[in-house]
Amino acid sequence: CVVPVILSGGVGSRLWPLSRELYPKQFIDLTACGRTLLQATVERLVGGEFTAPIIVCNHEHRFLLAEQLRANALDVLDILLEPVGRNTAPAVAVAALRAIQRNPQAVLVVLPADHVIRDTQAFREVLALGVASAANNYLVTFGIRPTAAETGFGYIQAGEPLSENNKARRVCRFVEKPEQDTAQSYLAAGNYFWNSGMFVFRAAQYLEELARFAPDIFEACEAALESANEDLDFLRLGAEAFERCRADSIDYAVMEHTADAVVIPFAGGWSDLGSWGALLAETECDQAGNAAIGDVMLHDSQNCYVRADGRLVALVGVHDHIVVETSDAVLVAARGAVQSVKGLVEILRRRQ
Ligand code: GDD
Ligand code: MG
Repeated sequence: CVVPVILSGGVGSRLWPLSRELYPKQFIDLTACGRTLLQATVERLVGGEFTAPIIVCNHEHRFLLAEQLRANALDVLDILLEPVGRNTAPAVAVAALRAIQRNPQAVLVVLPADHVIRDTQAFREVLALGVASAANNYLVTFGIRPTAAETGFGYIQAGEPLSENNKARRVCRFVEKPEQDTAQSYLAAGNYFWNSGMFVFRAAQYLEELARFAPDIFEACEAALESANEDLDFLRLGAEAFERCRADSIDYAVMEHTADAVVIPFAGGWSDLGSWGALLAETECDQAGNAAIGDVMLHDSQNCYVRADGRLVALVGVHDHIVVETSDAVLVAARGAVQSVKGLVEILRRRQ
């Protein structure tokens, strides 16, 4: 059986002030499409060979999550609640342990809750290729052809194809978030992909690899699931065990080390909406390159993303800026500086 695992624990700090710790971006209708990113992620996988998903999220978001699932009548297998965020390696581990309790042969399709994918059919086709490779004991990643030397992504060097009728290629090297110079050389080389952050593998195989490369994480996750307790529709992971777990991402803990990784290229309109700049690229613009959401007036302005949640926002003679108005904070950022919003949020957190 193929079990989607949806990771919904991030806080999306680069999209501050819209994305907040208590209301992160996956729970927002960021692209103004009528559903939140989380709802769209679950809906994309309804039917076919997939079971209902396992969702892993922070306990603080449990009612937000349950409400959004209920609103669109979306089923789940389990909602696993983390007492604290420990990044993606533990989140995937507890989901894998839970999945093999139901079916030791379970194949997992691991998906972030906050990505945009334009072409659902192409996406489901590429997942089917991934499932076929996972059945042959590969850990599958999906590669996006890079268009810039981004440093916020993992890079995958693709090698030999596996077989003629599957698009999968061996991973020669997986480098999580390289420095700028390195990213530039990967872009120039031509045989590197961005890691999309979506994975397919047998649950048992992920756990074997984790136990080999990060045994402390594996053990803490096992203990956290053993000591979990049911609470309404949720499964609360044992707090003592999960809190002592080391935080690490699946990329650093497993994907950089495993010998069995393959990459399948995906070109179905993927975006991780990682910054205001990425969101501007995903939003429909007028002839002057402006994207305006809410009560916005633009005069003699170009290439701006303006979002007004409550008040009227007017721009005159402004270009290449991001302006986001919410009830308690307003962001004005130069388009070229949007990656620094994350650092700003760190400073704010320390100030509080
Ligand atoms: N449940 C849970 N718990 N989910 C989490 C946690 C956690 O502690 N931390 C992060 N997540 C979720 C986020 O909500 C997001 O959906 C996904 O896991 C990935 O986490 P990010 O924090 O957004 O990772 P990243 O963007 O730095 O890097 C990853 O994604 C890139 C593509 O978007 C890596 O896989 C990169 O290699 C990749 O290029
Ligand atoms: Mg991300």
